[in-house]
Amino acid sequence: MTLDEKADLLIGTGMPGFGGPAVGQTQNLVPGAAGTTKAIPRLGIPAIVLADGPAGIRISPTRPNDTQTYYATAFPIATLIASSWNPELAENVGKAMGNEVLEYGADILLAPALNLHRHPLNGRNFEYYSEDPVISGKMTAAAVRGIQSNGVGTSIKHFAANNQESLRGRNDVIIKNRPLRELYLKGFEIAVKESSPWTIMSSYNKINGTYTSESRDLLTTVLRDEWKYNGIVMTDWFGGTDIVKQVHAGNDLLMPGTPQQKEAILKNIKEGKLAISDVDVNVKRILELILKTPKFKKYPFSNKPDLKAHAAIARQAAAEGMILLKNERQTLPLNPGAKIAAFGVTSYDFVAGGTGSGDVYEAYVVSLLEGLAGYPIDDKLSRRYKEYVTGYKEKHKPDPNNILELILGKPRMPELVLSEKEVAEAAAATDLAIVTIGRNSGEFEDRKTKGDFYLTDEEQNLISAVTQAYHSQGKKVVVILNIGGVIETASWKSKPDAILLAWQAGQEGGHSVADILSGHVTPSGKLTMTFPNDLSDVASNVNFPLDVKLSFQEMMGANMAPAPEVPRRNLDFTHYDENLYVGYRDYVTHKKPVSFPFGFGLSYTTFSYENVKVSGNSQNGFNLTVNVKNTGKRKGKEIVQVYRSTPDNDPQKELVAFAKTRELAPGEQETLRFKITAEDLASFNEAGNCWLTKPGAYKLLLGKSVDEIVASQSVEVKNKLEKPLIARF
Ligand code: GLC
Repeated sequence: MTLDEKADLLIGTGMPGFGGPAVGQTQNLVPGAAGTTKAIPRLGIPAIVLADGPAGIRISPTRPNDTQTYYATAFPIATLIASSWNPELAENVGKAMGNEVLEYGADILLAPALNLHRHPLNGRNFEYYSEDPVISGKMTAAAVRGIQSNGVGTSIKHFAANNQESLRGRNDVIIKNRPLRELYLKGFEIAVKESSPWTIMSSYNKINGTYTSESRDLLTTVLRDEWKYNGIVMTDWFGGTDIVKQVHAGNDLLMPGTPQQKEAILKNIKEGKLAISDVDVNVKRILELILKTPKFKKYPFSNKPDLKAHAAIARQAAAEGMILLKNERQTLPLNPGAKIAAFGVTSYDFVAGGTGSGDVYEAYVVSLLEGLAGYPIDDKLSRRYKEYVTGYKEKHKPDPNNILELILGKPRMPELVLSEKEVAEAAAATDLAIVTIGRNSGEFEDRKTKGDFYLTDEEQNLISAVTQAYHSQGKKVVVILNIGGVIETASWKSKPDAILLAWQAGQEGGHSVADILSGHVTPSGKLTMTFPNDLSDVASNVNFPLDVKLSFQEMMGANMAPAPEVPRRNLDFTHYDENLYVGYRDYVTHKKPVSFPFGFGLSYTTFSYENVKVSGNSQNGFNLTVNVKNTGKRKGKEIVQVYRSTPDNDPQKELVAFAKTRELAPGEQETLRFKITAEDLASFNEAGNCWLTKPGAYKLLLGKSVDEIVASQSVEVKNKLEKPLIARF
């Protein structure tokens, strides 16, 4: 290879609108894909195609002068997949998603994304799994296995600690080694070791002053020397600033690629600032990747994946991840034939997923009403809402010249305010009310407090008016949350009879919700993050950018904008002063009451946990078994969580394992088995820069949620176990 060819291979071929050495390659291989690498025909090296995103492949649904369409399946968002606590489900969704990558001619899916839900208002939490690293890592590994079973690659992202959107391009995460290792790297470590993702995407941000894409400690010492990772690392799009540091760090591929980067590579090699040996290491790894791809193998992709079969997978997966938060007076499942009034604009404008690169171009979205087609619906009310929604959309059409709107999506439609009479009429004419609350968010911007985390006055008033009207007639109300992230619930959850957290369920959302409401599917999802009583209870709240307004440049490419005179707190830098106290680790250890706890979710049936046994020792690992029995009247699945508590008892509980039963008929039972090793009980020791399992008494706690522990087993670690690490940040 010539030097010029090597430089070409280290960068992508650009991005439309942002210039690039050979922009055309991005467009004509798979239009709408996020980027491609450079072909070197002389050496038989093809360009490979990288496409977003975590909820399905994101490519242009139509092409000029082509009658065929290229819609992809919009699968449930990652948070909803995680809420199933079922790695097998995540793997099956991955298999279907990966098949669309293969059949549409792409090679790498830029997913899954597993940054931690450090704060409820991170704009991209919908793309991520949890506030806990174990469930994040296990679900990521399952998704990677599924996607890569098609012979295509993944890119787990964003490595690491990209936990806010505000000024992500330059935000410096100031963090201690223990929370970094135990919370923000742990999920990636599990995924790398359990699924070997072909690629990893470094994040935009810095960690303790160094861009992650420029950090050799992170990308070579941790990833390759400690974790034995053998894939490639690519930047996030336009991430980082110094290509010499990036190449030396082991960030193999600079995406999407700009002409300036190629010039800089050649110039620095010539000036001896960039070692050709570094270049060769990265080029070799990129070539090894290309050899694995369908493109190199000349796979004859069909452009016709089985979208119908995948829609069925999306529907089943979404239903299994939905979470029943409240169900009093046997409100759910619905009585067959119940006449329903559907309140809330989101009942008529269902949200399938988030915005930005995590969005998908799907052919349709099943609305709630379409899903409820089996039930008589109050027509008069529906007409009122449909007129309002259609009229509003007519008046607020997306403006093709408003790039911010194109990127962020339109602001949410305000709730329709009904008269007391209209609500009373509906209450008289129907058996039950559904009130849907919707939210959306996405890349480039964090969520807001008022009208986003907190309900608007109109939403609060709607829930109050509808519950009052229906309860006065002895009828019931169900609230459905069609949201992508945590919202405030404590102030209103006492009013409705039932609450179903539907999340953003992808294109089949309306069907999945109906499958749960009708009892066709028994809800079995559980929370993978906490719903706090209030934002002020969130430990990281003082160190998170609340309600900030950024310039376009700062949203799109803060790393290319001039740094301000005085760096701004929670923007140019963010102190992770909460340390380990993220989510339930904080609320449980510091005894803070919450609205809905981590791991919580109701069912239409009940389960008993019997014959809990533990055997083994710290040398060979502890074996924990439990018989889970369906003691109710309906079929259902149960998630069992295993928490550890260590001799330090701080944090008080930490998820160490989990499992889900198959669907159990009433009276049926299944034995779940867990293997907990001494390494699973280790904590990161700052002084020794090592994983340390101290000798002493530990507890293994079996829970239906983090707050509902049904059995506890004490185990003894006899000898200290120490695993030294190399990198220190
Ligand atoms: C974006 C996102 C990343 C995505 C990439 C390509 O900025 O941060 O998740 O895969 O660019 O679209």
